[in-house]
Amino acid sequence: MASHFIVECLDCGHKAPYFPGTPACPHCGSNWREARYDYDDLAHSLPLQLPGRPFDIWRYRELLPVRNPNSDFSLGEGGTPLIRATNLGMMLGCPNIYIKDERQGPTASFKDRQAAITIAALKESGINEMVVASTGNVAISYSAYAARAGIKLWAFLTSLVPAGKMREVALYGTQVIKVTGSYDQAKQVAAEFAKQRGIFLDLGPRSITCIESMKTIAFEISEQLTALIGPPPSIDDHPDTPWRTPDWYIQAVSGGLGPLGVIKGFSELAQMNLVARVPKMASIQTEGCAPMAHAWKQDREVATPIQSPHTLISTLSTGDPGRAYTLLRQKMKKASGGSFEFVSDEDAFRAMHLMAKMEGLSVEPAAAVAFAGLIKMVRSGMIKQNEVIVVNCSGHTMPIERNILGEGWSRNIVLPSQMEESQEEGLLAALSKVGTDRFPRIVIVDDNPDVRRLIRRILQTQGEYTLFEASTGIEAVDLAKKEHPNLIILDLMMPEMDGFAVMDALQNNPDTTDIPVIVVTAKELTAAEKQRLQGHIQSLMQKGDFLSDDLLDEVRALLR
Ligand SMILES: Cc1ncc(COP(=O)(O)O)c(C=O)c1O
Ligand SMILES: [Zn+2]
Repeated sequence: MASHFIVECLDCGHKAPYFPGTPACPHCGSNWREARYDYDDLAHSLPLQLPGRPFDIWRYRELLPVRNPNSDFSLGEGGTPLIRATNLGMMLGCPNIYIKDERQGPTASFKDRQAAITIAALKESGINEMVVASTGNVAISYSAYAARAGIKLWAFLTSLVPAGKMREVALYGTQVIKVTGSYDQAKQVAAEFAKQRGIFLDLGPRSITCIESMKTIAFEISEQLTALIGPPPSIDDHPDTPWRTPDWYIQAVSGGLGPLGVIKGFSELAQMNLVARVPKMASIQTEGCAPMAHAWKQDREVATPIQSPHTLISTLSTGDPGRAYTLLRQKMKKASGGSFEFVSDEDAFRAMHLMAKMEGLSVEPAAAVAFAGLIKMVRSGMIKQNEVIVVNCSGHTMPIERNILGEGWSRNIVLPSQMEESQEEGLLAALSKVGTDRFPRIVIVDDNPDVRRLIRRILQTQGEYTLFEASTGIEAVDLAKKEHPNLIILDLMMPEMDGFAVMDALQNNPDTTDIPVIVVTAKELTAAEKQRLQGHIQSLMQKGDFLSDDLLDEVRALLR
């Protein structure tokens, strides 16, 4: 398959085409791989393409791992404003502080980019189910996009995630699994679950789509800064470049995905001679969970994991960043350097209050960590007052009140406290409680892909079903024979073999005659047609005249 990029293994150098469902290098099995594009060609072609395009994430589609994004899934991702922090700037003596306001993304954090790109890539490959482990924001972003695109999402959340955020994930119809344990443990359980069931797993910095999505932050900042403060001054021995970069890019960090993607984005722009240099990167952690900052300060290549993070800011509670730190450190040293810092929870909360009072920006605690880091670094002199600084900022999502969801919206996994000793056993025992894989099987028949997606989504949000889709009557009859579903949801008006003919074929075959059928149709039925359906279908639903719960009630009643 011809593609506009290839993936290169960071361990063995093997180059391969990209398939989202294949997360490992086919040669050595490593998950650490990077997308490479034809930068020489793009250096010329991209600047010519951009002027007519909207300012959103898809503006840079030639540098993204998606071929044909489906605009129906879009929630307005990317294209967030770059806002000058005038008051904070005056207080710190830094006139050039800019805020990349990711609060204005669809679910108020930069993780919307990750979800938008990953889900677009999955849908393009026909993948309809995925697993994610999260401290909240990632799960919220994925939940929103999964809802639109018809992806069944399993979110493993550490019990440290505030209840309001957890409920928001559930509100979107995601299967919430609350893991009583650390975020690192929730990640392990999610990985085991995904492996057992063969479901796609978001691997953060090891997923191509995740890193690629974060590049767009760098692209946007470069264009926006240039529009705000003008093209960059000429540099000796360097060809002129159209766009400018900040001196510093600052972000709160947990697993390291954000800065890894952003530095790749700036590096690609530099490779295409669109910018002269990559900014210095500052990644800020909380004092109680700062494995990267400690390793950086001691000039160590590998971060020592923190077993039990002690911070109220659970969003940033990756105790073991693993190779993401080592890689980020390497990339920073190769580019313009930078630093890792930590701040106390108290300093973060103070910065949060300050940003609201002085800049009118209500940011979330994790973003406040970045602002506290900025203040600390200006005070220490590491950041010079005349430097141009961009800070990544995310916001709060809505608190979902306790009474909206009722009971039973999450499944709980309590890990044995001594994970070390019986790690494997504890995991497996805990997972076996999540549910069996003997799910009722349902075939969805409709010639319209949007309707199939709608019905798939309705069924994904509640209960567990194994879903099949047929786009023609002939396919439907074949699927019914092959898969012996527990239920068929059938459209009537289809070209060639219509729903009536499908029903006749099902009735005439002893293998399929007992399968219950729900007809979902847009057709105004004549008396004769109603007569024809009588006794052969279990339920009739009129398109445009039922909500998701109505269909679910019918399905549940029939499968009971
Ligand atoms: C607001 C916010 N900031 C920072 C992070 C850290 O993310 P990472 O280190 O994966 O880039 C997260 C992660 O969920 C987040 O939600
Ligand atoms: Zn390899």
